Amino acid sequence: MGPTGAPRRPSKIIALPAIPRIDHWRPVTHPPALSPAGLHLWKIRTGRGGAPLARLWPLLSPRESERAARLRFDRHREPYVRAHAGLRRILSGYLGIAPAAIGFRYGDAGKPVLEGASGLEFNLTTSGELALAALSLGTPVGVDCERIGDRGDILAIASRMFTPEQASRIAAAPPEDRLWQFHIAWTTLEADVKADGCGLSGQDRPAARSTRRIEHCVPEPGFVAALARERLPPVEDWINLTLPAHSE
Ligand SMILES: CC(C)(COP(=O)(O)OP(=O)(O)OC[C@H]1O[C@@H](n2cnc3c(N)ncnc32)[C@H](O)[C@@H]1OP(=O)(O)O)[C@@H](O)C(=O)NCCC(=O)NCCS
Repeated sequence: MGPTGAPRRPSKIIALPAIPRIDHWRPVTHPPALSPAGLHLWKIRTGRGGAPLARLWPLLSPRESERAARLRFDRHREPYVRAHAGLRRILSGYLGIAPAAIGFRYGDAGKPVLEGASGLEFNLTTSGELALAALSLGTPVGVDCERIGDRGDILAIASRMFTPEQASRIAAAPPEDRLWQFHIAWTTLEADVKADGCGLSGQDRPAARSTRRIEHCVPEPGFVAALARERLPPVEDWINLTLPAHSE
């Protein structure tokens, strides 16, 4: 019997993929060494309560500053400034260059990559008050993070964007699991296109299987993230880092 005295429903066996949850993020100002086989995942808090914005804004490039200034709402501008200042501070620790002096080049679909020949690869994703930056040495990486939430007609999106197998798996899932399955497939697609930088370009692009490995994690309750990279270690072997709270 359940707590209310009503008969308990037999628990359903749901074949959801087990996604590892990352509970510990080590606060560091200087990153540990990154090897070509390793993967560093950084969490950047972009909500209120961190360092004053006036201290972070000067770390941005003119291009980033202009973009932040063009954002109409503070609720978008503040996370943007925090995410990009945070990313620059993280990269600074690896490169030994001041955050504001780090230079980016941009691919045809907008992927930022580091100028110079450091071999350091990164990718950034933002979702609500959370940003993640994946750092890799020598191999391009893509990361996408989404808050699990209503996305409208997910079956229509799935049939347009995913492989027929993925779309039918989502359609066949019990309604309470569909959103979860959808976000797993969506983050897979985005992380993969973000690794090679081609982006989605607003066009329908049924998910093709690339040769990259994709790993998922739960970086915070209510979110799911995917990483895409050739020869990606399992989540258990990632090094999960964050900037000290007072400096974000
Ligand atoms: C790249 C894309 C997949 C990002 O998806 P998203 O879920 O909206 O955003 P995310 O938060 O995960 O990632 C955004 C970050 O990824 C990086 N990024 C931008 N373009 C990228 C690309 N093509 N590939 C990889 N990373 C990219 C940036 O750091 C960006 O941060 P910013 O927007 O704050 O500067 C999506 O916006 C897209 O398809 N863009 C393509 C645009 C395009 O093709 N334009 C045509 C040329 S003008």
